[in-house]
Amino acid sequence: MSKYLIAGNWKMNTNLDEAKKITDELHGYKDFDSEVEMLICPPFTHIGFLSELVDLSRVSLGAQNVHYEPKGAYTGEISNEMLLSVGCEYVIIGHSERRSYFNETNELINKKVVNSLNAGLRVILCIGETLEDRESGNTNKVLEEQLTKGLLGVEETINLKIAYEPVWAIGTGKTATSEQISETHKFISNFLNLRFGDNIIKILYGGSMNAENAKDILSISNVNGGLIGGASLKPESFLSIYNSAIELC
Ligand code: PGA
Repeated sequence: MSKYLIAGNWKMNTNLDEAKKITDELHGYKDFDSEVEMLICPPFTHIGFLSELVDLSRVSLGAQNVHYEPKGAYTGEISNEMLLSVGCEYVIIGHSERRSYFNETNELINKKVVNSLNAGLRVILCIGETLEDRESGNTNKVLEEQLTKGLLGVEETINLKIAYEPVWAIGTGKTATSEQISETHKFISNFLNLRFGDNIIKILYGGSMNAENAKDILSISNVNGGLIGGASLKPESFLSIYNSAIELC
């Protein structure tokens, strides 16, 4: 199992040509290391095309969302089975943008987590507190609730990852301090140990991670990778983050 997972969340960016160009640049990287897994999560429309382009053992592909039902009358939705059929291995579930703009609740997120894991996808469950939560001292309470409800009924953790993404640090250029990241990742790790026993679940940090701060963040204990938004659209920055992880192995 790799030591770090460096994941790019492209959000609603890139047309297909742009996506191919970025993917080509990443895929051509000379210093791939089996200790660090590289994952990109482009928009749904590109996944099938990109899986034809890459060696999936070098660059893994993931989706940014999924519906929990396998098929049916759910206009506009995409199922786990559809993702698997185009070479998609991962899915991000419960991103704060989905929670806030699309009203995704912990209950809905839990259905997605359970069904994606059952379908055989690898799940990155995102959790994180708002600035208000943090300032009112409620960070751990909010994270505990997101974890408890989001992971209800989950027993097998081999395909599960958690991404801690403080909402106030996403796309804002603000990163949490090393102390905040360290304390919070420890809290999450303790929760997972209690919930699952001896656990090997990777905990990623997300929120304005970039080429400059990646090495410091990735060196904090209990940080096993990054979920990167803005900087993942620039191959040079994303590769530099990837390289920081290699240097720490
Ligand atoms: P950011 O986004 O790196 O642009 O802050 C991270 C994310 O939303 O996953």
